[in-house]
Amino acid sequence: MKVKTVFCCGECGYESPKWMGKCPQCGAWNSFAEFTPVAQDTPSAKRSLRRSDTRPERVTEIDVEDEERLSTGMEEFDRVLGGGAVSGSFVLVGGEPGAGKSTLLLQVCGSICREHTVLYVSGEESARQLKLRANRLLVNEPNLYLYAQTRVEDILEAIEKLSPELVIVDSIQTVFCGSVDSAPGSVSQIRESAQVLMRCAKERGITIFLVGHVTKEGTLAGPKILEHMVDCVVYFEGDRHLSYRILRAAKNRYGSTDEIGVFEMRDTGLCQVPNPSEALLSGRPRGASGSCVACVMEGSRPILAEIQSIVTTATFSAPRRMVVGFDYNRAMLLMAVLEKRAGLLLGSCDAYLNVTGGLRIAEPAADLPAILSIASGMRDRAIDEELVSFGEVGLTGELRAVNNVQQRLQEIRRIGFRKCVLPFSCVKGLSAPDGLELYPVRTVSEAVELCLTR
Ligand SMILES: Nc1ncnc2c1ncn2[C@@H]1O[C@H](COP(=O)(O)OP(=O)(O)O)[C@@H](O)[C@H]1O
Ligand SMILES: [Mg+2]
Repeated sequence: MKVKTVFCCGECGYESPKWMGKCPQCGAWNSFAEFTPVAQDTPSAKRSLRRSDTRPERVTEIDVEDEERLSTGMEEFDRVLGGGAVSGSFVLVGGEPGAGKSTLLLQVCGSICREHTVLYVSGEESARQLKLRANRLLVNEPNLYLYAQTRVEDILEAIEKLSPELVIVDSIQTVFCGSVDSAPGSVSQIRESAQVLMRCAKERGITIFLVGHVTKEGTLAGPKILEHMVDCVVYFEGDRHLSYRILRAAKNRYGSTDEIGVFEMRDTGLCQVPNPSEALLSGRPRGASGSCVACVMEGSRPILAEIQSIVTTATFSAPRRMVVGFDYNRAMLLMAVLEKRAGLLLGSCDAYLNVTGGLRIAEPAADLPAILSIASGMRDRAIDEELVSFGEVGLTGELRAVNNVQQRLQEIRRIGFRKCVLPFSCVKGLSAPDGLELYPVRTVSEAVELCLTR
């Protein structure tokens, strides 16, 4: 029998009988890969075609009172998942090599296996290597099963036999389905393996964590439909050379995607950092120019971080601009505002902006501290080291209100700062915490004068 193959877009999953250079559905170039669809008479296909016993239900009839969530044993991780892992959910954990995905998940296993059966499947390490890591992380419980396996059918069999509450598959790029005729890591293998595992999670109500590798560009390797398929996508970010790691949800069907979890990599594994502000500000220089502390909200938590900058005379006719941890376009916009509305001529200067500690700030409330940091670097004058600021900056140089002001002020005071520069429109009806002086300002130039001329 002739085996029929189809071509499938790695970005959106569009299928076509012939190869195409550009996907007609999503417009991606060179994204088609060939694969052999699962024949309709294989057992796994039969299972999926079987009539299921679900039926449409009234919304009033569905009972979700007892939605069960498994705590990962780490508050930082639970918060990112929206309060623990929901039973029957399918979670994808992405990150660069060495970020600590395997470590994190083995630690989660170590905590959950005290009360539940847990299966850790690894396609990357042998059971012996896993055991060595488990020893280092002090994980040693009879309910934790380690399994070095890459064949999905064998993994399903092990799940059938052990009926675990939690399964880790490390990683989706190394597992393969025997029924699909292409190499592990290819679009069709990833798609099919993930589908089979997801069906297993939903049917048996077990939680599956899937590890996914990321490409050089920082997105998950493999088809985009993998991300559409799963319930949650969390990224484990952080430089291998820095000890702080940040866990961030990119998609979550059971909670908000604003929350972050902060961890520190130690010899004994990942430790939670319940006080990220203190950690991010440790080692902050005293009395140095080009530094301003910002207060930004990461989900429901205010976090203080330092924004640093250097402004030097340009060596080439086109000035250099470099930005790390902050949106590049936003930084360019702020420099233009600073030039036009506060009269700081940056046109002939190279400017570099950096958020310390590996944090990436996306909130507009960091506009004002970024501007103050650049202005301080430009004038080579230090900002008062007891001062924190936040506020959105508009293009006319006006300062705009941000939300959660009270919470931010509390965190600023808790860390021990005494002064806060904030937009005037934020202070209406506000009571500052004891020991914190508020400096409301209306415009960027007012803020720059206040912070840099005294
Ligand atoms: N024996 C060890 N002692 C201390 N730290 C280690 C040891 N082995 C690995 N690590 C740390 O763990 C990190 C790798 O974690 P791992 O969970 O394997 O990452 P991933 O699975 O994301 O590739 C390394 O970057 C290193 O910091
Ligand atoms: Mg790993």
